[in-house]
Amino acid sequence: MKDLAGRIVLVTGATRGIGKAIALAFGAEQSRVVITGRTAAALEEVAATLRSTGAEVLAHQCDVTQKPHVESLRQEIEKRFGAVQILVNNAGVAPAADFLEMTDKLWDEVMRVNVNGAYNCCKTFLAPMIDAHWGRIINIASTVARVAYPGIAAYATSKHASLGLTRALAMETARSGVTVNAVCPGYVNTELTRENAQRLAEKRGQSLDQALAMLAASCPQRRLIEPEEVAYVTLMLASDRARGITGQAIQVDGGAVMA
Ligand SMILES: NC(=O)c1ccc[n+]([C@@H]2O[C@H](COP(=O)([O-])OP(=O)(O)OC[C@H]3O[C@@H](n4cnc5c(N)ncnc54)[C@H](OP(=O)(O)O)[C@@H]3O)[C@@H](O)[C@H]2O)c1
Repeated sequence: MKDLAGRIVLVTGATRGIGKAIALAFGAEQSRVVITGRTAAALEEVAATLRSTGAEVLAHQCDVTQKPHVESLRQEIEKRFGAVQILVNNAGVAPAADFLEMTDKLWDEVMRVNVNGAYNCCKTFLAPMIDAHWGRIINIASTVARVAYPGIAAYATSKHASLGLTRALAMETARSGVTVNAVCPGYVNTELTRENAQRLAEKRGQSLDQALAMLAASCPQRRLIEPEEVAYVTLMLASDRARGITGQAIQVDGGAVMA
């Protein structure tokens, strides 16, 4: 995808997992990559990996729930590279709890990161895309933006909201050269999935491997998705040639959800 070379890409939550894979994939396309997250050491590690491949990278510590952090991120990116052209809202959390046992704190945290975090970034980075008549917003949602499972009411609500935001912004930007889409992965082979599998294992008196195997078995392809597979679809949506795709939710889930 040669048209991604030189593009200014912001990936939130790029210190590990899916966000890291997306940042590395854009780096390999010679995009100028901005990576963010809250953990300075992990950010520096990802930045060093990107630099070692010859990519141009800016690493900036940023908690997406904090609007002033996002504003100082914008200023730093514009000083170094210019306006963000591709925004990947990937930062997310997924703590699980049955609804009646769930604390208000858990609900608030999930909404603050998964919904308000994406809102803060869209609010900050969309206007210059419209001014430039070109832009891409890609929200990393989940299959639970389309369906729900027990024990994840906050997460499922937040990802349905992510899809709602995707569709609403796609409608508002349809004539501006900007596209807004969601990528909806199933269970991906990341730390987040291992943490959830660990919780599941403790609840069921299983080993971590048994819990991971159970999650993999819920996928028709009988496997976890790799972060690079999510990155591939993100690159595709960012490409010039995907300009006709907007307001869509694209599953990367081995056939788990077909609605
Ligand atoms: N793994 C899956 O099975 C799966 C499936 C469907 C969708 N997803 C979605 O994909 C995205 C990434 O998931 P993952 O599996 O890669 O998760 P992960 O390994 O837990 O990584 C999450 C990333 O988000 C960052 N983050 C969390 N809170 C943040 C905040 N307030 N501000 C900025 N960054 C923050 C973390 O960095 P710091 O901790 O350094 O801030 C980390 O880089 C999430 O939106 C998740 O909901 C994951």
